[in-house]
Amino acid sequence: MKLHIAVALAGMAFTGIALAGPTEDLARTCNACHGVNGVSVGPSMPSIGGLPEAHLKNVMLQWKTDERYSATMGRHFKGYTEAELSALATYYSKLPYVPTVQKADDKIMAKGKEATDRCETCHGATGGEPDDAETPKLNGQWAQYLELELMKYRNDAVKMPHKKMRNNAKKLADEDVAAVAEFYAAQPK
Ligand code: HEC
Ligand code: HEC
Repeated sequence: MKLHIAVALAGMAFTGIALAGPTEDLARTCNACHGVNGVSVGPSMPSIGGLPEAHLKNVMLQWKTDERYSATMGRHFKGYTEAELSALATYYSKLPYVPTVQKADDKIMAKGKEATDRCETCHGATGGEPDDAETPKLNGQWAQYLELELMKYRNDAVKMPHKKMRNNAKKLADEDVAAVAEFYAAQPK
């Protein structure tokens, strides 16, 4: 019996079937919203492929434990174990990050650049060079999604546990929030 299983596994490895493991199966349900390989094609859905592992893990575990607000994802994640969420974070972090470059006009770009001065230390000048593993990339992320997230950080009634990000988002002037989102969304790297 043992021998039969070994032979079957060897056969699967040989044909490549063994490459699709349980994490890839779970990821298929995510890709329905987040796109193939976590590269989103919908403006309110973030691309998640290639984001730092620690950031992905933080967000998903905070949803599972209700420490972070979400419209739909929290409920979605209750059914997963911590180990499954960690494995998903590792899986997505290893995929390439593919920016979706969205054009913005010069005036908005200038406004966005000025308003992101204080963001540079952590996110880099274009959002593409985060200073640590808990900080997500912003370059070529969907503008609509970025704006929605900034609105959440700015609103005390919305549970978003990262205090520093919250304080920084609140320092933006109301009229700069959309420009900041468009500025990052337009960056190729
Ligand atoms: C029904 C659509 C849908 C499905 C299915 C889905 N997501 Fe999401 N996901 C979203 C939306 C919308 C957001 C934006 C945040 C929010 O509004 O909840 C999001 C946000 C995220 C974020 C935050 C990204 C960031 O940059 O902070 C992560 C991580 C994530 N999802 C991972 C996953 C994983 C892993 C799965 C599969 C287990 C999954 N999602 C399944 C819709 C979905
Ligand atoms: C002290 C470092 C720091 C500074 C300064 C900072 N950020 Fe962040 N930013 C982070 C971290 C860490 C996260 C992830 C926080 C979380 O888990 O909610 C984040 C998340 C974000 C997100 C959500 C992205 C996503 O994929 O969900 C946006 C948008 C963002 N930052 C924009 C800005 C802007 C605009 C500024 C300046 C006004 C700024 N940040 C300043 C560290 C920083």
